[in-house]
Amino acid sequence: MANLEVEFCGLAFKNPIVVSSIEPTNSLEGLKRCVDAGAAGAVVKTITDMPQLAALTRHAKYAILDQEGKAIGGKVPRSYVFYSRSGYSTRPYREWAKPLREAQRYAEDNGAHIIGSVGAGTVDGWIEIAGMMEDCGLRMIELNFGCPHPSLMEGTRAGMLLGQDPELAAEITSRVAEAVKIPVIVKLTPQVKDVVEIAQAVKEAGASGVTVINRYVGFAVDIERGRPWIGGPAGVGGPWVRFLTLRWVHEIYTKVGIPIAGTNGIYDWREAVEFLMTGARLMEVGSVLMLKGYGHIERILSGLRTFMEEHGYESVEAMIGVASRRSKDYSQLLKAERTHAVVDHERCNRCWRCVESCFYGAMERAEEEVITRSELCIGCELCYNVCPTGAIYFEAS
Ligand SMILES: Cc1cc2nc3c(=O)[nH]c(=O)nc-3n(C[C@H](O)[C@H](O)[C@H](O)COP(=O)(O)O)c2cc1C
Repeated sequence: MANLEVEFCGLAFKNPIVVSSIEPTNSLEGLKRCVDAGAAGAVVKTITDMPQLAALTRHAKYAILDQEGKAIGGKVPRSYVFYSRSGYSTRPYREWAKPLREAQRYAEDNGAHIIGSVGAGTVDGWIEIAGMMEDCGLRMIELNFGCPHPSLMEGTRAGMLLGQDPELAAEITSRVAEAVKIPVIVKLTPQVKDVVEIAQAVKEAGASGVTVINRYVGFAVDIERGRPWIGGPAGVGGPWVRFLTLRWVHEIYTKVGIPIAGTNGIYDWREAVEFLMTGARLMEVGSVLMLKGYGHIERILSGLRTFMEEHGYESVEAMIGVASRRSKDYSQLLKAERTHAVVDHERCNRCWRCVESCFYGAMERAEEEVITRSELCIGCELCYNVCPTGAIYFEAS
């Protein structure tokens, strides 16, 4: 039986799937349902002292689109687009103490963890809310420096605006990390020039780990009505965005060396494996649960177990970072050995797509068949990708 246990920032997790800070974790009942569904933990929806971010949740709107940008109409495709506007928890933070304490006890009894999420308006506010979470028995706190919405809300210095400012991010991180004894992790924003710089800054300031990465601001258009979905700009994400997320997981894994929780783009076990292989130790899964329900957690876990068993991975630990460690940098890639394309004329159906897609003059359409010119071929593999019959292979030049 594959071992799903994993260590993250000194805490043992029974598996690498945690529910991210999102609507399903916005109540005691929701947190318990995450635990019941088999998640190793749940990050509570961001708790705040900022009324405008609570108000944003009272005006929440969600548009779930397909890859063409149309409303999905009930069937959730793997490539869904989650276009939405909602803020932080609407419950005043002092009223969270009792449910948090109970959620923590419930999680502990079931071998899981509740992780706090803070988003405050002042440094003292960050410290106070984090302290309240520690008093409730929580074993880890996430600082939300990634929420996309404050960038659209005049006068709201929160979320990604903090994650865009390495000095401020470091100051809040170090003040909170000094004030509490439990590990503090920082949820980053992708909307900066260099996420590695911010990850490094918060690591030096005392963060035990980073969550990579919160969502982007987007703009989605309903072309039938000639206006944006849900009235204007909003946060945007979905499984399709994971390739952008994984780029930062990869860079932080290789350059910063800090434990990573991956989020933004997980649909099922397949993406979970991608995140693990890139270097994440834990996965924070969010929007897919709003569309498919808490029961989807077990589907992710059983798919992960099956993949590991079929591929001979005895533990989750054995998968962490394998793809990142095999990744070459551009200077190595420029020295890679050359290959050239060869056409298997038996398999070729003469559709000429390879000729259309060769921009190096290495494929030519002749009367009867494709002619390849190996001296011009750079082995870019585009012809191989468009060939519908698998007729193209490569030989060393
Ligand atoms: C409707 C919605 C509400 C969210 N609320 C929060 C929040 O309160 N705090 C936070 O840190 N992230 C929040 N997020 C971000 C999610 O926790 C998660 O990181 C993000 O959706 C990417 O993961 P996913 O691809 O699994 O959805 C929210 C996302 C969505 C879609």
